[in-house]
Amino acid sequence: SAQLNELAQKAGKLYFGTATDNEDIGFQNKTYLQILNDTKEFGQLTPSNGQKWFAVEPELGVFNYSYGDVVADIATANKQILRCHNLVWHSQLAPWGYGISYLEQRKPHRRSHRPRNQRSQTLVQPMLRLGRGQRSPQRRRDLSQRHLPPSPRPEYIRIAFRAAAAADPHAKLYYNDYNIESPNNKSAAVRALVRDLKKEGIRIDGVGLQSHFTAGSAPSIDNLIWTMEGYTKLGVEVALTELDIRIMEPETSSNLAQQSSDYKNAVGACMLVDGCVGVTVWDFWDPVSWVPGVFTGMGSACLWFGNFTKHPAYQGVVEALTND
Ligand code: G3I
Repeated sequence: SAQLNELAQKAGKLYFGTATDNEDIGFQNKTYLQILNDTKEFGQLTPSNGQKWFAVEPELGVFNYSYGDVVADIATANKQILRCHNLVWHSQLAPWGYGISYLEQRKPHRRSHRPRNQRSQTLVQPMLRLGRGQRSPQRRRDLSQRHLPPSPRPEYIRIAFRAAAAADPHAKLYYNDYNIESPNNKSAAVRALVRDLKKEGIRIDGVGLQSHFTAGSAPSIDNLIWTMEGYTKLGVEVALTELDIRIMEPETSSNLAQQSSDYKNAVGACMLVDGCVGVTVWDFWDPVSWVPGVFTGMGSACLWFGNFTKHPAYQGVVEALTND
């Protein structure tokens, strides 16, 4: 039977992809690796953790790209699109990065000798080495504002986008966030941000909708489409970048059916929006999902069960991709 990336591409999308983490147990499992490397299933990869700041610059000025490069190398070998992830994610900044913002908030007189803007720029540039020399059409920059001192927040985003554009003119630059998949204040704020950046001549190519949903309370297909079109109207592309749909354990036929219908809607919404270029699931195998570690009593958020049989939701996604 036809597989996800194959179907997505047949339907005119760029890819169906997955996140993966080479330090997870999946990488010790032959079946996991087989699916990950199957380009009919996945045409795009995102390293879940290996390119984050804590991993890339564990000490100020000391760079180590080896963790993220494992995934990047797989993508290159398979000609899978690579989405770099990410420049900044608030919960996984470099330990010394926290230190800097802590110092700035608490002891403003103990600033570094460099002006703030310049310092932010030096933080961004080494990260961009990640995308260099790779020919992937899709790259992503995740610019989170939290844990940065309040005053430079707006400049930070601009500095980061400018530095990213200068470092790699071919990379697609995305603003990526959660809870921006529905009509609400946050998605309105992201539209305003995109508008402002464009007005100021700063390049932004896309908005990534993380899409970590809960079965039964995922956004409706109409709300998803409305929100995505709100971004694409501003002249950027969109993608579902981290799709997963958690259920309350234990799995039952009814919560799995709900999950399937929610996956179908999410992927179906992307299918119906021209500017939605593709869908990435936030890993595909339940045992490596981030969900149970964060949401007590919830899990089974992926498309493959622990024993590598597929969730009913896999068929839901197939139906969305084939307009069935
Ligand atoms: O590597 C350590 C291990 O040595 C230690 O024994 C273990 C015990 O807690 O922790 C391991 O680190 C964990 C790391 O993932 C690697 O597995 C961290 O605790 C855990 O917090 C971290 O979670 C990651 C999370 O981002 C952090 O916010 C998830 O794997 C990752 O999937 C998740 O991804 C984020 C996206 O980047 C942004 N959008 C939301 C998404 C889900 O939170």
